[in-house]
Amino acid sequence: MFRSVIQGVGAYLPERVLTNAELAKQVDTSDEWIIERTGICKRHVAADGQKTSDLAIEAATRALKAAGRDGNEVDLFVVATATPDETFPATAARVQSALGRPGVPSFDVQAVCSGFIYGLAVVDNFIKAGQSKCAVLIGAETFSRILDWEDRTTCVLFGDGAGAVVVSAEEGTGTSSDRGILSTHLHSDGRYHDMLYVDGGPASTQTTGHVRMKGKEVFRHAVVNLASTVREALDANGLTIDDVDWLVPHQANKRILDSTASKLGMDPAKVIVTVDQHANTSAASIPLAFETGVADGRIKPGQLVLMEAMGGGFTWGSALVRL
Ligand code: UT7
Repeated sequence: MFRSVIQGVGAYLPERVLTNAELAKQVDTSDEWIIERTGICKRHVAADGQKTSDLAIEAATRALKAAGRDGNEVDLFVVATATPDETFPATAARVQSALGRPGVPSFDVQAVCSGFIYGLAVVDNFIKAGQSKCAVLIGAETFSRILDWEDRTTCVLFGDGAGAVVVSAEEGTGTSSDRGILSTHLHSDGRYHDMLYVDGGPASTQTTGHVRMKGKEVFRHAVVNLASTVREALDANGLTIDDVDWLVPHQANKRILDSTASKLGMDPAKVIVTVDQHANTSAASIPLAFETGVADGRIKPGQLVLMEAMGGGFTWGSALVRL
């Protein structure tokens, strides 16, 4: 059987860093509150005129370099984003025209903070069906564009950034010792729309809108849903939490990461944490955390990595990957 093997990972963060102290000058908050309730110390913010596609192209270029691949070899570009450059065409089309061959398919996936997990499932299925041999998947966001900078309950939580992986087809044995994506599990429940959404869009208000969130409720659902999707990933592969080398979670809140790890009985030293440095970058957060772990040498070839995310929709899911 074909396995979808991650050949390279890349990341890009905009230059501008926004600290908690700077935010405390704009809204009624403090460095202490933000760190204590979220673990966030700072976030990156795109420059004026810098678009999601600019971040995505930079991250994908770095991932291609890490994989030793040329953009001309890529036969599929997928961008996971909730903050596209424009309502249409897809941000992925800009990436494809910058890096790929004319004519190669490209499209966006919209599952907000779970977008990268959804994207992994899409790419994996294209590869398993024989429709792609080398795909680039990017999680890229400019959430700074859809924040209400006067709402202290949301504006302190998010940041901009992009992370990318190059995934290519390799023959596998079908066992959990194969390299590549071993499984993906996806979920959604639209009944929870009002817990986390953007109050605008082309078909409703004809505006872009701003992020609205009932943080406490989202938190409660996140811990339950994340633990359950991790368990289904392990069960599907006949593995236990002790077999996992690294948990690479969506980075929304350090307290969510801690609660989920403790619910799973996972050693906190095996959890990659970047929320302190990047805040919540939505679909970009897993590849940004993954890149951090690979670049600093913690995540090594052959190791088992469990990724999980939860976001607006609600959407949630997990992916088990052997590097
Ligand atoms: O990526 C998608 C998934 N998103 C998430 O997973 C986010 C999940 N939720 C969270 O991370 C947390 O719920 C928050 C960080 C958003 C909030 O933390 P919390 O401990 O649940 O606080 P809270 O909402 O219960 O608010 C506690 C207090 C409130 O004041 P009162 O009503 O007790 O007087 C808030 O008004 O903290 C106040 N507050 C703030 N104070 C200072 C809310 N935001 C701020 C702020 N600075 N930025």
